[in-house]
Amino acid sequence: MAATRSSPLPVLIRDPAEWQAFCTARRAEGSLGFVPTMGALHEGHLSLCHRAAAENHSVVVSIFVNPTQFDDKKDLAAYPQVLDADMQKLAGAGVQAVFSPSYEALYPDGYRYRVSEDTVSRRYCGAHRPGHFDGVLTVVLKLLSLSAADAAYFGEKDYQQYMLVRDMAAAFFVQTKIVACPIVRESNGLAMSSRNERLSPADRAAAGAFYTIISGAPDAGAAIEQLAAAGFDPDYVEDVEDPVMGRRRRLAAIRFGGVRLIDNVPVPEGRRT
Ligand code: PAF
Repeated sequence: MAATRSSPLPVLIRDPAEWQAFCTARRAEGSLGFVPTMGALHEGHLSLCHRAAAENHSVVVSIFVNPTQFDDKKDLAAYPQVLDADMQKLAGAGVQAVFSPSYEALYPDGYRYRVSEDTVSRRYCGAHRPGHFDGVLTVVLKLLSLSAADAAYFGEKDYQQYMLVRDMAAAFFVQTKIVACPIVRESNGLAMSSRNERLSPADRAAAGAFYTIISGAPDAGAAIEQLAAAGFDPDYVEDVEDPVMGRRRRLAAIRFGGVRLIDNVPVPEGRRT
């Protein structure tokens, strides 16, 4: 939903102590929903905000491009930082405030302390991006601690991230409920991602086949073969058991048009794994 004149911009807060005070005041009024992001917002992010707004009295968002989760410094440098445009988008999405701290403010320890998971984080995307999930879990724990929201909303596009955050919250007795929200897709099936902006129009159109192939292939091996035949460079496709959700997901990552894309689908019924 676009911002209108009747939709004021969210309050922008940079200081962690001010953010804690703001969130405490919101929680005194009613339930607080929190959406952590790295900015460059698209419809997928806005769907998380709308869900949070439907389920809570107030909604707050963080926008922080987290350097510790980028294993590739070129990828970090290329990550779009468009705070003004993001604030405009959030004005129409029922969001009261945005937390956008500096690295120094969010990492007063200089990343001496970090959260590390030693099993799931080493597989799938983690096998191709060393240290990535340490950075994700560390920043998410900081953001959850600072916001102390009743619920935090994560997109299922990053399914491995969602599983790890959910299980970290349980492991550390975090009070915030971790909520998974469905993937939002472009008209050709490509999962929405800030990285899609970096594809040429022709590659963006062709990338829809990524979703078609992983949804239809009888097993992960066949999906890899079909992806390669279609001109994609697959990092991995794996069918993964998620005991908490009680279902199997097919997780996949490819490189295409100079961009790394990830996606996941329910493992098709009756398929081999
Ligand atoms: O999914 C993302 O945008 C990021 O990994 C997150 C959860 C905001 C942590 O930096």
